[in-house]
Amino acid sequence: MQSTQNSIHGYWSSDRAFFLAATGSAVGLGNIWKFPYITGENGGGAFVIVYMACIIVIGVPVMMAEIMLGRSGGKSPIHAMKDHVKNSDGHNIWESVGWMGAIAGAIILSFYSVIAGWALSYTFLSAKGGLANINGDGAGQLFSQLLSSPGSLLIWHTVFMTMTMTVIGYGLKRGLEQAIRIMAPWLVVLLTLLAIYSVLYASYADSLLYLFSFDFSKLTTESVLVAMGHAFFTLSIGLGAIMTYGAYLPKSASIPKLTISIALADTLIALLSGFIIFSIVFSNGLEPSSGPGLIFQTLPVAFGNMPFGRLFGTAFFLLIVLAAWSSAISAVEPINAWLVEKYGITRLKSSLISGIPVWIFGVGTLLSFNIWSEYKIWGKTFFGVVDFLASNILLPLGGVLIALFTGWIMQKSISRAELKIGNRMFIGWMFSLRYVAPILIIAIFINIVGIF
Ligand code: TRP
Repeated sequence: MQSTQNSIHGYWSSDRAFFLAATGSAVGLGNIWKFPYITGENGGGAFVIVYMACIIVIGVPVMMAEIMLGRSGGKSPIHAMKDHVKNSDGHNIWESVGWMGAIAGAIILSFYSVIAGWALSYTFLSAKGGLANINGDGAGQLFSQLLSSPGSLLIWHTVFMTMTMTVIGYGLKRGLEQAIRIMAPWLVVLLTLLAIYSVLYASYADSLLYLFSFDFSKLTTESVLVAMGHAFFTLSIGLGAIMTYGAYLPKSASIPKLTISIALADTLIALLSGFIIFSIVFSNGLEPSSGPGLIFQTLPVAFGNMPFGRLFGTAFFLLIVLAAWSSAISAVEPINAWLVEKYGITRLKSSLISGIPVWIFGVGTLLSFNIWSEYKIWGKTFFGVVDFLASNILLPLGGVLIALFTGWIMQKSISRAELKIGNRMFIGWMFSLRYVAPILIIAIFINIVGIF
């Protein structure tokens, strides 16, 4: 029996390249756009605590399992899970982890691209000086104008999908690795500059209070579900994206160390983004609970009125685009790796075959902000349903299956050899995968029923 396989797609050139790519996948719209607005919608501090607990108790162990499954499988999740299931005499049902993840990745990308398109549009707007001296009302109007125009949304969505599929087309080293190497340092520099700006010119104390004051009375069952879903979303786990990146990880790299570094970097960046955004929200009398438009209605006010705001604004929106870009590629990499393995086609072909349906599906999201905004299922728009389905159902479901498979079905000798951790750590990890993560995820799932 073969416990480890070689990747036909090649390998990352170093541990650092994997770290950057996986962090690039983790850090995205989830950190800069979604985390602040869901924190706002769910009342602040208490939500942040639940979210961080989910990262530690569920996120880190599941991420380790996912990277381990990827590296020992050496293939796209669909094929890797097939091999793993065969090797451990498991039931076919476990193979669903692979294809379900591939589908969820495509669904996520479909709406991710529309939102990244908003950031693209704001990048150009800011560069043209369109945010100069804008106030809260003006920023709100600007945002509604964009959302009410399907034509503009379609253009930006198309541009972003083309960017994403181009990187995929270039493959691992020339595409994914290069792209991320250039993007990562810029993201960090800009976030730091904006944090400094918040401390000097915005209501940073109110922001800290908001993020870290724990009013548990504001926490509902749905909030807990959202926090858990977001822990999966922000770490890019539960659907095979990180598993695919793991397949390209050299055998010498330490999975536990890398996992912890990625989770830490991702959480820090989310907190920093939240800190910056709420500082600006409070200093401009804006509402923290204004939903998906939050950063698009708040940051322009700051950029429009600060020294060198045109430069800062353009750079910041560009960085959101970059962060989203490095995440988007990981969401469709599983399908692409699978297409290349299964049909022996070129990357260019696989990127077209996977990209076009995602692009079409994304049109549903962009219309749900205008023409279709009145059509609701379970009180949610098309975008709301797709986001909820992918982030709150498919991701945790993928996560629970990964945890259970690794905990109960897979041979311990393989996972132990991959992780190379001490006995106590290994037992702790197993305990989390066998009991803690599944029980928590399932308990929270059962409560979904109450939401509808
Ligand atoms: N982690 C990304 C973010 O926070 C989103 C993302 C990218 C993702 N690829 C994924 C989520 C794969 C789940 C699975 O923005």
